Amino acid sequence: MTAFGSVFMPEMALTEFDGEKWGAHKLVPSDSLSLHPGAHVLHYASTCFEGLKAFRHPDGSVKIFRMDCNIARFAQSAELLALPAINPEQTRDMIMDVVARFADQAPEAPGSLYIRPTHIGTEPAIGKAAGPSLTSMQYVLVSPVGDYFAGGSDTTLRLLLEEESMRCAPHMGRIKSGGNYASALLPTMIAKRDLKVDQILFCPNGDVQETGAANFLLIDGDTLITKALDSSFLHGITRDSLLTIARDLGMNVEERDLSVDELLERSRKPGCEAALSGTAAVLTPVGTLLHKGKEHQVGDGKAGATTAKLRQTLNSIQWGQTEDKHGWLTSI
Ligand SMILES: Cc1ncc(COP(=O)(O)O)c(C=O)c1O
Repeated sequence: MTAFGSVFMPEMALTEFDGEKWGAHKLVPSDSLSLHPGAHVLHYASTCFEGLKAFRHPDGSVKIFRMDCNIARFAQSAELLALPAINPEQTRDMIMDVVARFADQAPEAPGSLYIRPTHIGTEPAIGKAAGPSLTSMQYVLVSPVGDYFAGGSDTTLRLLLEEESMRCAPHMGRIKSGGNYASALLPTMIAKRDLKVDQILFCPNGDVQETGAANFLLIDGDTLITKALDSSFLHGITRDSLLTIARDLGMNVEERDLSVDELLERSRKPGCEAALSGTAAVLTPVGTLLHKGKEHQVGDGKAGATTAKLRQTLNSIQWGQTEDKHGWLTSI
């Protein structure tokens, strides 16, 4: 089996900002870029990206899920990183063009076409550690994918609750930028190696935030609890979709701070469930929490019924099996 996101379609959509305006975008080969070794991104990490999916429906059509939300987050990331402003309509056209080009390669559900818009500072200027890149490049890659977590939706994840360190600097959390992922990488690798966990759930000073690439949801009976939006973590579009679905299903949604103490206490209850949400993770159940050397099972440690229902409801909208009543899908 090939790793998630390691197969790319042979062309991508690309445009460049010359310091004043974005050029016309075009489809170009996706296996190479021409970049000066002094490019701002390579030294000062002026980069942001997005991750969204297009799904093949039973009638053969291909639809993109919540594209406008991803474009809005992309625009905000560029702004907060002092990259040139994107033109949202152009980014939308780039996504539509490249997905249309490879629509026939979109896998059947549960697979999808993963879409990766990327924006990088290209100005060759190694003296600009404290200055923005005046030029930049945007490109949109597409990659056919299956499940992100190898076990699929039946196996449960084992997470380390980490209270001492953070995923990234607190003001950077809501920006989808490469540096945040680099910053969480080594601690995550060490935890995987030494503690045999799947991910770290970052809980700085006991505040339950998110993992390296997904948001965290706690489900206690009819109540879904997740951290309220602030600048410290990524505002997941899957999180938002699942909260909407949970409300539609009559659940009580609490967006608020969740402490490690409360998490561990609620986890002891037999019906309690926990899960990670994200474009790649969809909604993946969490069975075990490791905290200060002790293992805590979440509920009965198995994939829970509410988690499965939320995931299935989301998937059935994405896969065209249920009415898209919130208008989340865009036809190409
Ligand atoms: C750090 C982080 N948190 C949360 C998420 C979930 O965001 P979304 O649901 O928009 O994919 C992601 C991306 O998948 C992420 O990288």
